[in-house]
Amino acid sequence: MSRKYLIAGNWKMNKTATEAVDLVHEINASVGSQNSVQVCVCPPFTSLAKVSELIEQTEVFLGAQNMNAEASGAFTGEVSAEMLRDLYVSFVILGHSERRQLYGETNESINRKVLAAIHNNLKPIYCIGETLEEREAGQTLEVVRSQVRQGLADYPASSVEHLILAYEPVWAIGTGKTATDEMAQEVHADIRVVLSEMFGESAASTVRILYGGSMKPENAAGLLAQPDVDGGLIGGASLTSRAFLGIIEAATTASS
Ligand code: PGA
Repeated sequence: MSRKYLIAGNWKMNKTATEAVDLVHEINASVGSQNSVQVCVCPPFTSLAKVSELIEQTEVFLGAQNMNAEASGAFTGEVSAEMLRDLYVSFVILGHSERRQLYGETNESINRKVLAAIHNNLKPIYCIGETLEEREAGQTLEVVRSQVRQGLADYPASSVEHLILAYEPVWAIGTGKTATDEMAQEVHADIRVVLSEMFGESAASTVRILYGGSMKPENAAGLLAQPDVDGGLIGGASLTSRAFLGIIEAATTASS
């Protein structure tokens, strides 16, 4: 089963809508008409409408960084799946470790978002990963397995091909420390085993599992060469076109 690489830029709380314009123009100019690698940018909510217009005629996709599980109502400050779809958002990052750590999100609360996303035709990028403490205690696979099982409970088997996971070891996010190629492959392969148990081997082979955590042009080729690494969720290195395009180039080379 050949899976197309997905390189997704998670801008986090960076860039105003005005600042987004130059970066998106540079991405469009370089990779806006190719489709050998799928490219997605995930700006803050305030830039989604602007970026949506800028990428309209291109092969670049739009993602959001979060959403509420409810359809509408009295949820001050929140944004629904339908609001994202209305702006032509295709992907939504859910359960990022910053949301788990800083905003109290749990496997259970993220599960509700994952199900709401897929029911609204948004492709969830479901984030999982262990802390340094958990890795040092030898609990990595156990933690990641339960994140997969609980976060994807009741996920419809008919939509497995639209599911994306992002393995992001918490100790590697924004720290400059990257998992070695072998460490990433070990966890990615284990995640695919859990997906096979849940959905069957054939369906599990269609799921893209991204690596995230200090991915940059210098280490992307090695990570992307691993058989179960199907792309990257890129934080810091997605904020400049030089670095982001460098990673896309590594994915293009790896896929050819
Ligand atoms: P980083 O962030 O690339 O800056 O480590 C990745 C992420 O948090 O998605």
